[in-house]
Amino acid sequence: MIRNERVGTGISKIDKLISGGFKKNSVNLVVGNAGSGKTTLAMQYLVDGLKKGEAGIYITFDENKEKLYDDFAEFGWELERFERMGLLKFLEYTPEQVRSLVSEGGGTLDVLVSQMNAKRIVVDSISSFSMLFINEITKRESSLGLFELFGKWGCTAVLTGQASDVNADEIESDFAFEVDSIIALHHFKKNGKRERALEILKMRGTKIPEKTMQMGISNKGITVEPNKIVSK
Ligand SMILES: Nc1ncnc2c1ncn2[C@@H]1O[C@H](COP(=O)(O)OP(=O)(O)OP(=O)(O)O)[C@@H](O)[C@H]1O
Ligand SMILES: [Mg+2]
Repeated sequence: MIRNERVGTGISKIDKLISGGFKKNSVNLVVGNAGSGKTTLAMQYLVDGLKKGEAGIYITFDENKEKLYDDFAEFGWELERFERMGLLKFLEYTPEQVRSLVSEGGGTLDVLVSQMNAKRIVVDSISSFSMLFINEITKRESSLGLFELFGKWGCTAVLTGQASDVNADEIESDFAFEVDSIIALHHFKKNGKRERALEILKMRGTKIPEKTMQMGISNKGITVEPNKIVSK
């Protein structure tokens, strides 16, 4: 493997700021409150790969496939076509099913990943998975087991997580210490207007821009203006 190989995030202006994207084989967390754009960013990350012929898997506990595909058709993302081409797989799992897959060392997912030659994987959201566990130790064990599977498969993962803090300022999300990077999506009220911003909180082995950048969601998906710093 080429050292320090990078995988595009789906936001080209962000890639330019972080040495080309996520580190290959890394586990990346996107946190934010409801409607902040987590699912959009996660799908944009997959679409970035799909357009280059890189297969991707989207695992969700909460989202409905038809609804999501319809919503994202607005962005010109032809998810159904990618699925027919065998590049995209949409998996609606229960958290229990994922827990079983982890304890089986991958199970059916293991087969699927190698059949598709999947390079990118999304779990939307990891918060739903972590709610399965009452015990912190088993929660950590099972999640690390899942992250190890991504590594074994050679996949670069994006996980979404609900921030427990409304402003996502203090990230009290699970796995903050276990993941390789954290991107926070802010959606907050200022002078009676809602603003969106994106902030990279950490990225192992990468210099990060220490600023909160203006973000937008339009029919092109998520865009970021690195020169426009947002202050609350
Ligand atoms: N075409 C569009 N133009 C502008 N904004 C859009 C468009 N489509 C969706 N949005 C915005 O994107 C938001 C959806 O973001 P998304 O579903 O990615 O958020 P989320 O963080 O995953 O939310 P949740 O926590 O509910 O899962 C919507 O609330 C809407 O405001
Ligand atoms: Mg979502």
